[in-house]
Amino acid sequence: MGYLATLIPGDGIGPEVAEATVRAVKATGVVIDWEHAELSGRIIERCGRDLPEHVIESLERTRVGLKGPVTTPVAGGFQSVNVALRKRLDLFANFRPVRTLPGLKTRHSDVFVDIVMFRENTEDLYAGLEHEVVTDVVTSLKVITRRASTRIARYAFEYARREGRQWIHAIHKANIMKLGDGLFLRCCREVAQEYPEIKYKELIVDNASMQMVMRPEIFDVLLMPNLYGDIVSDLAAGLVGGLGIVPGANLGERHAVFEAVHGSAPDIAGRGVANPTALMQSAVLMLNYLGEKAAARRLQQAVELVYAAGRSLTPDVGGSASTTEFTDAVIGSLERGS
Ligand code: NAI
Repeated sequence: MGYLATLIPGDGIGPEVAEATVRAVKATGVVIDWEHAELSGRIIERCGRDLPEHVIESLERTRVGLKGPVTTPVAGGFQSVNVALRKRLDLFANFRPVRTLPGLKTRHSDVFVDIVMFRENTEDLYAGLEHEVVTDVVTSLKVITRRASTRIARYAFEYARREGRQWIHAIHKANIMKLGDGLFLRCCREVAQEYPEIKYKELIVDNASMQMVMRPEIFDVLLMPNLYGDIVSDLAAGLVGGLGIVPGANLGERHAVFEAVHGSAPDIAGRGVANPTALMQSAVLMLNYLGEKAAARRLQQAVELVYAAGRSLTPDVGGSASTTEFTDAVIGSLERGS
């Protein structure tokens, strides 16, 4: 059976890693009819909207998307397209599994990292409510609601129950933001009571960051509001080899958009050396979501075999292979395995 899905290659290294990933998915034998939706910093500037209508129309039709990074101007310009997409399709749960790849040498390769992060995706400081009160005095509103906090907490606990995970740590700064983060924690505690088999603990975000660098193996599932989730998940990515590795998914009730954690990497765009592992592992999450569990497992194994062999790796993880050479190795490994 074939599936219909939206492919948003994005810009910078996006088209390079998207092409590699589409080839790898095709090699699993799962047939996906990709609807291409072009999106880039330039297109957004030209059409004057943070989220052009053709992208939303396609995702509303297909309900599933695989997305590359899109350049966002820093300070001024349009709102982040990612933030706009998450709000518009109510993709409230950001899901980022961070796992050590076998054989990959990193500063932390002596520990096995296997952390799943759930980040609330629609509010907090990303509500985009900023206001210049008087010249040179700006307020940015941090919005925390019971509805969004309970929803992400339930999502994380349901996942932990389904996957047999043992621990959930809620990350916060409620010692300072007593009302906002206090509400987030209250919601997490209430949900935690419904899942007595899962151990629940709270950690202040600064301490959690230090613990993650020193003892990443103590973490299992993390439950976080938007901003801490953004920062802590990049920190975790650094433990297992960097942004070129780590996959992500933005999940809602009706739609799902799978994307790498990394950005458009303008420093290496167009040079053919981008690491497509992050988007390939995002495609593994997508295949699982579509119910193609066997294909997902095979693609994941193929990626891991290439890392375990240690050849054909891209420069960001210490190799000298191009994007295409890495992709050929993954496809070769898939074909040998099937
Ligand atoms: P970045 O993730 O693009 O790059 C950070 C560093 O990691 C760079 O040295 C880059 O070369 C390297 N890197 C990232 N992905 C890589 C890969 N797949 N293979 C090899 N090396 C990789 O972060 P940066 O520079 O902060 O952002 C660049 C642009 O991307 C900005 O406009 C930002 O707003 C946008 N961005 C978009 C995202 C999205 O669309 N989901 C997410 C994050 C940033």
